[in-house]
Amino acid sequence: MIRILPSLRFTPLLSAAKPFCSSSPTRELPQYEARTAPVSNSLLSITPKTPLFLRTPSHATCLSDVWKWHDWAKDLATSVEESSTNSEDSLDSVILHRELKWLIEDSIEDDTLVILHRSEIADDGEKNVKLRASLEELYDLWRQRIEKRRPFQYVVGCEHWRDLVLCVEEGVLIPRPETELIVDMVEELVTRDGRFKKGCWADLGTGSGAIAIGIAKVLGSHGRVIATDLSPVAIAVAVHNVQRYNLQGMVEVRKGSWFEPLKDLEGQLVGLVSNPPYIPSDDIPGLQAEVGRHEPKLALDGGIDGTDSLLHLCHGASRMLKPGGFFVFETNGEKQSKMIVDYMMTNDLKDCFSDLKIVSDFAGINRFVTGFRL
Ligand SMILES: C[S@@+](CC[C@H](N)C(=O)[O-])C[C@H]1O[C@@H](n2cnc3c(N)ncnc32)[C@H](O)[C@@H]1O
Repeated sequence: MIRILPSLRFTPLLSAAKPFCSSSPTRELPQYEARTAPVSNSLLSITPKTPLFLRTPSHATCLSDVWKWHDWAKDLATSVEESSTNSEDSLDSVILHRELKWLIEDSIEDDTLVILHRSEIADDGEKNVKLRASLEELYDLWRQRIEKRRPFQYVVGCEHWRDLVLCVEEGVLIPRPETELIVDMVEELVTRDGRFKKGCWADLGTGSGAIAIGIAKVLGSHGRVIATDLSPVAIAVAVHNVQRYNLQGMVEVRKGSWFEPLKDLEGQLVGLVSNPPYIPSDDIPGLQAEVGRHEPKLALDGGIDGTDSLLHLCHGASRMLKPGGFFVFETNGEKQSKMIVDYMMTNDLKDCFSDLKIVSDFAGINRFVTGFRL
C-alpha cells in the first residue's frame, strides 16, 4: 500500500536541508542558450497557490484566540486515537501533533509565542500576533487534515524534499522520500564521470519538478534538464518551483505525453529519469485515504499490472538516449522491477542496454531499475 509518509522536515535524513531562502543568490548563467519559450502562455494561465510559509503575515489576531485554536487543534489530534477503529488506515496522533507544530511554524510569524513561551506569557493574551492565514482558515485547514484526510503537504502547500522546499497542491503528486535516491544516483554518476554533467537530461512525468530541480543542482552551471508532464497543473507547479530556485536557465518544462515533447532530442539524451505512475489499477481503491482521495489518479494509476507507462519508457529510452546514456526508472518495487529488467533483456530491446540493475530504496525494497544505452 502506498502510504503518505510523514513529512521529513528536520529529520536526520535531511541533515543537509536548508530552509528555503526566497532571495536566493543569483546563479552563474549556463553556457547553453536558454530556450525562449519553454512553456506556452496557456499553460502559465494556471497560477499555483502560494504556500503558507511564503504568504505575507497580514492577519493580526490576539494571542488568547490563537492559544484557543491551538488547544482545539491539539484536542482534535488526540481524539483520533480514541476514535480509531484500529484499521490499517487510521490517523496517527503522534504524527498529527508533529504536523500541528509545523502548521504553526508555517502560519504564525512568531510561532514561539504559541508553542515555547506560552506558560511564561500567560498574562499577555491580549497581545497581537501576526498570522499568514486568518484564524478561520486555520480552523478550516486543520479540520480538512483530520476530517477529510487532506494530506498535510496540501494543507500547508509545500513539501520538504532533499535540500528543497517544493510548492505542491492538489493535482500534483507530493514527492516521496524514496524518490530522492534517483537524484543521489545521478549525483554519484556525474561525480564519477564528468561527461554526464554536460549533456542533456530528461525527467519524464516531473510532477512538482522535484527530480528535475534536484538533478539541475547536481549538474551545476553546465547542466540542462528537460522536465515534461501531461498534467497542466503539474506543469504550472513545476515551472513555479523551477523559478523559485532560479533554475529557469537550466530546467526547461515542456508539456506533453512522455517522449512526444522531446522529438527534437532523439538519440541525444545523456540521461533519462522517471518516476511514472506504477500502481496497478486494482490497487487504487485500497490506497491510504490521503493518497486515494486527494492525489491525482494520473500520477498513480499504471494500468492493469502497473507497468503501462514503464514499458513505454523502456522503448523510449532505447530511442532517446545517446550510446552510453544512463537511465533510472522508479517502480512499484520487487516483482515489477524484475519484470522491467526481464522485458529490457528480451524482445526488440534485448541488444539495447547494458549493466541493467535493480537498486533498493531506504526500506530495502527493490525499487529502481537502472542501466545504460549500448
Ligand atoms: C508518480 S508521479 C511522479 C511525479 C514526480 N516526478 C515525483 O517523483 O514526485 C507521475 C507523474 O507522471 C505524470 N504523467 C502521467 N501520465 C503521463 C504521460 N502520459 N506523459 C507525461 N507525464 C505523465 C503525472 O502527471 C505525474 O506528475
